Amino acid sequence: MKIIAHGGVGSPREVDKDVQRAIDNGLSDDIFDTVVGVVSAMEDDPIFNAGTGSRMRLDGSIQMDAAVMYKGNIGAVAAIESVKNPIQVAAAVYETPYVLLACSGATEYARSIGFSSHDPSTEKRKKELQDMHDKLHEHEELMDIYQSVDGGDTVGCVASHEGEYAAAVSTGGTNFCIRGRIGDSPLVGCGFYAGEHGAVVTTGKGEELIKKLSAYRCYLLIPEIGLQKACDRVVEEHTVGSSIGLIAVGKEGVASSSSKQMSQASFK
Ligand code: GLY
Repeated sequence: MKIIAHGGVGSPREVDKDVQRAIDNGLSDDIFDTVVGVVSAMEDDPIFNAGTGSRMRLDGSIQMDAAVMYKGNIGAVAAIESVKNPIQVAAAVYETPYVLLACSGATEYARSIGFSSHDPSTEKRKKELQDMHDKLHEHEELMDIYQSVDGGDTVGCVASHEGEYAAAVSTGGTNFCIRGRIGDSPLVGCGFYAGEHGAVVTTGKGEELIKKLSAYRCYLLIPEIGLQKACDRVVEEHTVGSSIGLIAVGKEGVASSSSKQMSQASFK
């Protein structure tokens, strides 16, 4: 099995060891269980913006997005609240005829299948929320501030095994985020894609990744120009001023590219 995982564009390379530990903890014989397991491990590590340690919305709530794609099927949750591992709820959705559950319906579904209530907040994120409110009170309009928000610090993992590819992704969203906002991560082709050519996960400001269908753009480039060049091309094309990162796996192995530092680790 080949695996690459990342801890979000903008995250320091010192965090590579934490991404590596998530791979070690999540690795299994099954490709689907591996990508879900690696992302679950990162959700459980409060250093990452996913699961426990997710960013807070401006109203103090935490709404998380996650998705998994494998064998042409998808399971995703958007703006889910009060669960420990959104990616595991997405994996449960994968087993249903649905693709994406959102907001209170996603949380209710998680409860109905046995996911207990969990508070993913941390003191660090509470302090960040206070800082956001201080900035808002000081001067600027929220929408002006949001224009200059960079990166979402999504976590993700892609893997290949015997010609099959899987992708998993999870995030607590961006700073200065209003309740109900959904980013790229639970949206196919924006935050993730997996198919016969490989699997791709993106990280960055969701609004820009959605407009550019960044994961699918990279996926389509893989057979045309190769894995590494496909990742590099999508980074080069991302000229909107916010950061972007991608990880990908294909028949050539694993690749990554980002417009600034991005913690990552791989298993080849
Ligand atoms: N890329 C994560 C987000 O924008 O929510």
